[in-house]
Amino acid sequence: MAKCTKSLVMFPILLQTICFLLFPQPLMSQENNFVRQPASQLIITPHQRSNSEPQQVHISLVGKDKMRVSWITEDKETETMVEYGTKAGEYSEKTMGEHTSYQYFFYNSGKIHNAVIGPLEPNTTYFYRCGGLGPEFSFKTPPSKFPIEFVIVGDLGQTEWTASTLKHVDKSDYDVFLIPGDLSYADSQQPLWDSFGRLVEPYASKRPWMVTEGNHEIEIFPIIYPKGFEAYNTRWPMPFQESGSNSNLYYSFEVAGVHIIMLGSYADFSVESQQYEWLQLDLTKIDRVKTPWVITMVHAPWYTTNEAHQGEGESMRQAMEELLFKARVDLVFAGHVHAYERFTRIYNNKADSCGPMYVTIGDGGNREGLALRFKNPPSPLSLFREPSFGHGRLRILNETHAHWSWHRNNDKDAIVADGIWIESLSNLKACSETPNQQVAHQEL
Ligand SMILES: *[C@@H]1O[C@H](CO)[C@@H](O)[C@H](O)[C@H]1NC(C)=O
Ligand SMILES: *[C@@H]1O[C@H](CO)[C@@H](O)[C@H](O)[C@H]1NC(C)=O
Ligand SMILES: [Fe+2]
Repeated sequence: MAKCTKSLVMFPILLQTICFLLFPQPLMSQENNFVRQPASQLIITPHQRSNSEPQQVHISLVGKDKMRVSWITEDKETETMVEYGTKAGEYSEKTMGEHTSYQYFFYNSGKIHNAVIGPLEPNTTYFYRCGGLGPEFSFKTPPSKFPIEFVIVGDLGQTEWTASTLKHVDKSDYDVFLIPGDLSYADSQQPLWDSFGRLVEPYASKRPWMVTEGNHEIEIFPIIYPKGFEAYNTRWPMPFQESGSNSNLYYSFEVAGVHIIMLGSYADFSVESQQYEWLQLDLTKIDRVKTPWVITMVHAPWYTTNEAHQGEGESMRQAMEELLFKARVDLVFAGHVHAYERFTRIYNNKADSCGPMYVTIGDGGNREGLALRFKNPPSPLSLFREPSFGHGRLRILNETHAHWSWHRNNDKDAIVADGIWIESLSNLKACSETPNQQVAHQEL
């Protein structure tokens, strides 16, 4: 319970005493079995603009050529409008959006604005302004074809380590930022969501940030907020309807020849669930000629040899692994465990050259510190493991080749701590038939 009492300092005593109800027990149960490196200082990022100016500006991809711009104003009168164009200070286009807000106990959010702009040209810089006032922002749209580069890192939080990760990421260019869960570590202290929004704005306003949920996004409170995800769903809306999903907790999207599936570790994933049904259908829609690469993100890892959070992703693995394997998913990225670990290609706990390569990249820099202890002896499936803060980069060069690299915060920018070339499974003849088809042949 140390986690609760520490994290709820800004909350009334009454809430602290019933804090244990806030966090589902299975998520906490492993916390005492491993040692973490001391976490660094929490950074509170203050609101320094006027109340009518936008804050916490971030962007996310919507469909083939649109971008959602999300921001918050303290002032309830500000317009939900984005002006944009390809020249600084000149806005040829203007789009109105929608606004909302939410309440969490005594906290009232600011006015949360969302506007979807486009169609936009690929690989192009746009300048924009929110609500007709405040600073000008700019972003670059992803390219429509290879090469494309993704930055991938989970469990960000808002500490000095987070700031160091983001600075390191920013040193070299990329197209899209992907987060496999655990963003702000607000853990029900709503002002920390605002602080996180301001911390990441310089990065999240200039490249699309595509996220899926982690356990720190849950924020369930029995009876009053039984479904949870109030802040997450309102502040970080993702394009789930576009992929036929009925929940912001799981969705897919496509960008430059890559089909990306964002799974929800904290939405029902059993074989009878809507998420399972959605995933099945989503996988049938993939055209490997159009998107030769298929990537999946999930929060709780299905494979990990760290002592932290052992077994937490296991029921989801049992439910969904076969679907991903048969669909020849290339890579599965997870967070949750605060360390870096790269596996070989796996299916059902065995090395399999037609299974996805698994990577845990939960080393963004949150307040809990690192998960230092790995199990010994090491599993032959685990090829590189290290508890250090850092981030990953997936550079997809063409339809067949990609390069994955891991960069420690403590290293110089150019240093690649771990790197490997990957070939798309869509290109490997030996994997071009699904196991079912192979069985059918044998029967013939
Ligand atoms: C994107 O634009 C840059 C600079 O204009 C160019 O060098 C690069 O080749 C473009 N990428 C794609 C995939 O078109
Ligand atoms: C893809 O990129 C790899 C690595 O640079 C290269 O060896 C390969 O020939 C390229 N394939 C195609 C089809 O361009
Ligand atoms: Fe987590």
